[in-house]
Amino acid sequence: MENFKEIDDIIALHGNDKSSIISILHDVQHKFNYIPEDVLEYVSEKLSISPTKAFGIATFYENFSLQPKGKYIIKICDGTACHVRKSTPIIEALRKELNLSEEKITTDDLMFTVETVSCLGACGLAPVITINDKVYGKMTPEAVVDLLNEHRKEIGNEDK
Ligand code: FES
Repeated sequence: MENFKEIDDIIALHGNDKSSIISILHDVQHKFNYIPEDVLEYVSEKLSISPTKAFGIATFYENFSLQPKGKYIIKICDGTACHVRKSTPIIEALRKELNLSEEKITTDDLMFTVETVSCLGACGLAPVITINDKVYGKMTPEAVVDLLNEHRKEIGNEDK
């Protein structure tokens, strides 16, 4: 990253102190959808934390990601309630549609990330997915592809 001004602003907001690292990384994650490596290094230097320690913190918290993520983060529940109501074909349909796999979870255009989670807390609506934290229940492979196409249309309209 060429310009760390935005990062300086985030640091200034939370205070240039070791104890602020989580709040700072949280804002960095929110801004970029992930924590770029050079930003992590920069923050660790500014807060006088060793890069190894900063890396440890960034990898410990599930909400932080060191890999770029898509604009739309799709979480598919594969917890017990969703699994028995056939979440697997939904996961397969999404991955097939987006050319993704268990290892490759983000599309090359950085539009979609597909993750599986163990419970989204809406078991009554199983099988459940969320897209950027909006809950969609009683999903089917067909419904999930329709939903995906709606979001693709949105992206297309934004580009115009
Ligand atoms: S098991 Fe899927 S929402 Fe709880």
